[in-house]
Amino acid sequence: MNKPIVSMIVAVGENREMGANNDLPWGRALPTDMNRFRNKTRGHTIIMGKRTFESMQSKPLPNRVNIVVSRNPSMHDISIYHAKNVIVCGSVEEAIEEAKKNEKEAMPAGRQEIFIIGGGKIFELSMLLADKLYLTLIHAKFPDADVFFPDYSEFKKEVYREKVSENGYNYEFVDLERS
Ligand SMILES: NC(=O)c1ccc[n+]([C@@H]2O[C@H](COP(=O)([O-])OP(=O)(O)OC[C@H]3O[C@@H](n4cnc5c(N)ncnc54)[C@H](OP(=O)(O)O)[C@@H]3O)[C@@H](O)[C@H]2O)c1
Repeated sequence: MNKPIVSMIVAVGENREMGANNDLPWGRALPTDMNRFRNKTRGHTIIMGKRTFESMQSKPLPNRVNIVVSRNPSMHDISIYHAKNVIVCGSVEEAIEEAKKNEKEAMPAGRQEIFIIGGGKIFELSMLLADKLYLTLIHAKFPDADVFFPDYSEFKKEVYREKVSENGYNYEFVDLERS
């Protein structure tokens, strides 16, 4: 069946910390994680909240269709977003429908995967809608964090795990599916 899967991809600390001051709490210290993110999402459609888009200097990630979720998408109709070739949607549900259309056009059946890339608010709204979770689990605490990933205990089935050590951090890639 030609049905794109919906995945979330996120890196978190031991307390599910994922953001601080509209940036990553660990900054740019995990290039292997960045590479994995790039490799997984390249060529696909990505969905993010407006704050995450702003945390990327409001520049779309290249070689991917970028969808930004905002409560007021009409506000952005005449803004920089369209000039930058970014789609703006008013809800996560609408973003997923739009993403499915894009994936079906861009990717062959069996390789269609939509990636929800954050941030905290958009993950909260996506928790019941996603099929899969690509987690980067960092074995460290980040006391300055102000955004946290929601409880993900519904994703119980581990399908992949790999350990990484880099720049003084020990972390793991853990891929989870609903059981
Ligand atoms: N660790 C990671 O892997 C990772 C990944 C991504 C982001 N981050 C971090 O996460 C933080 C950003 O997360 P965040 O939770 O503050 O923001 P966010 O989820 O990226 O975006 C929030 C925005 O989404 C829109 N929104 C919220 N609820 C909505 C709804 N019900 N319907 C439609 N749109 C809605 C609003 O935009 P409007 O105000 O325009 O309505 C809101 O300002 C940053 O620190 C970033 O660095 C971390």
